[in-house]
Amino acid sequence: MRTQVAIIGGGPAGLLLSHMLAREGIDSIVVERQTRAHVLQRIRAGILEAGTVELLRAVGLGRRMDREGHSHDGTAIAWAGRDRFFIDTRKHTGKAMMAYGQTAITEDLYAARDAVGGAIIDEATSVRLEGVTSNSPSVNFGKNGRTERIDCDYVAGCDGFHGISRQSIPATILRTFEKTYPFGWLGIMSETPPFPDIVYGHHERGFALASMRSPTLSRYYIQCDLATKLEDWPDERFWAELKARFPKNIADQIVTGPSIEKSIAPLRSFVTEPMCYGRLFLAGDAAHIVPPTGAKGLNLAVSDVFYLARGMVDAIKHGRTGYIDSYSDMALRRVWGAERLSWWLTTLLHRFPGDTPFDERMRENQLDYLARSEVAQASLAEQYVGLPFED
Ligand code: APR
Ligand code: PHB
Repeated sequence: MRTQVAIIGGGPAGLLLSHMLAREGIDSIVVERQTRAHVLQRIRAGILEAGTVELLRAVGLGRRMDREGHSHDGTAIAWAGRDRFFIDTRKHTGKAMMAYGQTAITEDLYAARDAVGGAIIDEATSVRLEGVTSNSPSVNFGKNGRTERIDCDYVAGCDGFHGISRQSIPATILRTFEKTYPFGWLGIMSETPPFPDIVYGHHERGFALASMRSPTLSRYYIQCDLATKLEDWPDERFWAELKARFPKNIADQIVTGPSIEKSIAPLRSFVTEPMCYGRLFLAGDAAHIVPPTGAKGLNLAVSDVFYLARGMVDAIKHGRTGYIDSYSDMALRRVWGAERLSWWLTTLLHRFPGDTPFDERMRENQLDYLARSEVAQASLAEQYVGLPFED
């Protein structure tokens, strides 16, 4: 097989890249390890920055999002049993966020690729890259017991944190930066009307978050320790713990019901530098992970793809390599900004084992300052709604 861009990974990063390249007349093949059904049933994040929303609209993916998504003028923070205060992105930046699940975006992307006959190969085994420092790289993989090869001009590594693309970069070139956190998030989805605001809660029992996917679908999380087992958390225990961590007026308004999904995710910060090697370019979780506090993961995948699509289009169609050559530097500036915000929010809102009373006072004082200071709120609002893409 031959294509212009071989894309490893059919998550949001890989599919969006394929879609954006196709709109510019550039051919790609997506190679995905899992079945499509598996990819489509994964439940992930769901809060979109203003720039993500604009980009999805600009590339023809806005219709269902605008119909079913829920626009938000910001997010609330509650702590120490006090009522919540609001980080008003509309007031401070003129921009809004959108609650629209990654699962729905992935469905929209598959539908868009299918509508124009986009090539997506699923259940590919033993995916391997060759010749990425040459002008004619290739991707090798198994499919239905046969070995296949795609020759291409560029490879996009969009295969998530556990993918093979990043591992194809020699250890002498690659630098990684990592921080793990001594807790995870226990999350549930329930078919109940959500609390009207997205609320981040800090409490001495630990962090809690109220979020949503639609007017009838709620998403809640609580901080848990890493040894937590799902079977120890029947729904009643989850709801009781969630409510115990929010102030009474919020807890009283939370509508409980049976969970339709329950899972535990560890928290990690991780960055790869550089995000390219020869003609291989990493995008999304393949290059970086953020803890979910602040909901930056999916948004970063989208901004990477914005920069990468622009670079590839300019190089392939016009022979101009300025953007593709600066892809890693440009993408990383935004990545590090989101890394810092998600690390800061994680540190601010969680309880860490071994925290001293001094540590807790520092956290409370930061929250108190944030609750009172318009300037501090404006700064958080600017970062939460998403910094602009660079020209
Ligand atoms: N070969 C082919 N595909 C692979 C391989 C491989 N060796 N390894 C992993 N994949 C696939 C995975 O099955 C998955 O479908 O790559 C895809 C990567 O998708 P995601 O993990 O969703 O990552 P990405 O597309 O970068 O999406 C951004 O940021 O914070 C998160 O929740 C957010 O998952 C979202 C991500
Ligand atoms: C979610 O709705 O899943 C969500 C919302 C906000 C976050 C993280 C996750 O910071």
